Amino acid sequence: MDPIPAPGAPSTHDTVRAVLWQDEALRLLDQRRLPEEERWLDLRDAKAVAAAIRDMVVRGAPAIGIAAAYGAVLAAREAYAEAPGGWRSLWEADLARLAAARPTAVNLFWALERMRGVAEGLSGDPVPALLAEADRVLAEDLAANHRMGALGAALIDPPCAVLTHCNTGSLATGGYGTALGVIRSAWGAGCVTRVYADETRPWLQGARLTAWELVRDGIPVDLVVEGAAGSLMRAGGLGWVIVGADRVAANGDFANKIGTYPLAVLARHHGLRFMVVAPTSTIDLAVADGAGIPIETRAADEVLGCGGRRVAAPGAGAWNPAFDVTPAGLVDALVTERGVVREPSRERLAALLA
Ligand code: MRU
Repeated sequence: MDPIPAPGAPSTHDTVRAVLWQDEALRLLDQRRLPEEERWLDLRDAKAVAAAIRDMVVRGAPAIGIAAAYGAVLAAREAYAEAPGGWRSLWEADLARLAAARPTAVNLFWALERMRGVAEGLSGDPVPALLAEADRVLAEDLAANHRMGALGAALIDPPCAVLTHCNTGSLATGGYGTALGVIRSAWGAGCVTRVYADETRPWLQGARLTAWELVRDGIPVDLVVEGAAGSLMRAGGLGWVIVGADRVAANGDFANKIGTYPLAVLARHHGLRFMVVAPTSTIDLAVADGAGIPIETRAADEVLGCGGRRVAAPGAGAWNPAFDVTPAGLVDALVTERGVVREPSRERLAALLA
């Protein structure tokens, strides 16, 4: 049995990467195709990156932020080639396009702000400095995930089973994952006996992506339909529900994949503990509480069909929010790379970030 890995230590359960910079292009593993096909896309302009974020080629809050950072590099390359003296206004138009791709994951806006900060002091060709910053965004995310993996795994009393939702792994980040990083570390340390993953309708991130990633990395996983979560909790054996976040408000309320909130309510009812794992780049102090988090609504077709085939009765409509908000009061631990906040509150989050 491995000890809980030290921050940054290599793990045997960590082989997947989905966002790379290679040959002067952003390479993305197309997550719409998994698990049937491992197809890589090479993106060479910011328009293509914005479309990839919108269309879920790349998804998961930290991965969206990293892709946007490289999108800003591609935008600068194009803008500087076209207008070396006036590239900034062309660049800003592309940043606006990237920012409009998806509304909920604050990592997108956080990454674009970081790139703007670097651009401010530049003269001459902006590309080398912006590329170095995008590389840092990626490297810091990976390091944060290893640190959170160790911190979160240390909270888990063995032996217990865990339940997770959506995909928060290497596919959703620069690598290793947030909630799935904790599960990787805890599995490696022998604290976790079984991993359950919600299938996560309508995009099936759990069934398609989490299951693919875990099986590939040698961690057995059992899928459950969302409606089975209550029965699973009642059956006993589960210790923690472990999820990621797309945006954490200043008071600790957080948005995550639709279906997270009912899991938190069920966990409290059954006396289980509930862990949110998110880097500080996902915390948005500008939003006072969950009511202020913009929630993306996606096309009804995603709910009315499955696997590209219509399954709902003709004439039916659908409401399709991609995220929900869970109140801080239902969270036992928020794990960040800066430390663990137990029972998060406005004061405790402010202290963490001070
Ligand atoms: O719509 P998605 O697949 O981008 O939603 C992803 C999630 O909700 C994840 O749980 C969240 O981004 C955390 S990923 C480390």
